[in-house]
Amino acid sequence: MSLDHLLAHNRAWAAQMVRERPSFFTNLKNQQKPKYMWIGCSDSRVPANQITGLEPGEVFVHRNVANVVVHSDLNALSTVQYAVDMLNVEHVIVCGHYGCGGVQAALDNARIGLADNWIRHIQDVRDRYRKPLEGALVTQRLDMLCELNVIEQVVNLCQTTVLKDAWLRSHSITVHGWIYGVSDGLVHDLDMSVQGAAGLELARERAVAQVLSKNRR
Ligand code: CO
Repeated sequence: MSLDHLLAHNRAWAAQMVRERPSFFTNLKNQQKPKYMWIGCSDSRVPANQITGLEPGEVFVHRNVANVVVHSDLNALSTVQYAVDMLNVEHVIVCGHYGCGGVQAALDNARIGLADNWIRHIQDVRDRYRKPLEGALVTQRLDMLCELNVIEQVVNLCQTTVLKDAWLRSHSITVHGWIYGVSDGLVHDLDMSVQGAAGLELARERAVAQVLSKNRR
């Protein structure tokens, strides 16, 4: 099947941008200076730029199944290192979403294929919080694990050499944990904001406590 409609849309979009803001693309040509890095799920319903109102040039994006930060993932680590050390982003946002298929598969022990090995990282999160998850209503478990997964991926990110070294250099950078509702388009801040290695454990404790109290109501 031809993808002409996508290319036609692209030409119309580029022409409209130039009409409305003639220097838009020429300003972007030489350099990107985003203040934000986004680590999100590959899910087609969670487009970083659109839901935050950010334009080309404003957010540096890494996406994978279920927004996981794995300590040995050279793809994610390289992207984070470039964003932090070269682009000097001020904020890194880990954004999960409710109804995440990767998190659901982790919860259900579903066998998908190769991705099972990736999803195993989310099962580590599930196992860490096995008791509170089992204590929650079945209908709330997925939301709960989606939120806990964001918190634990923020922890993983903060424990990378990239972030630790940046903070050692007194580089001002904040890591945030957010979650997005695909059914209402709204982002929720999970109050998991970390500005330095010293604050990490307390931030995790507080954010986890909030998740557990919310989901038990
Ligand atoms: Co997802």
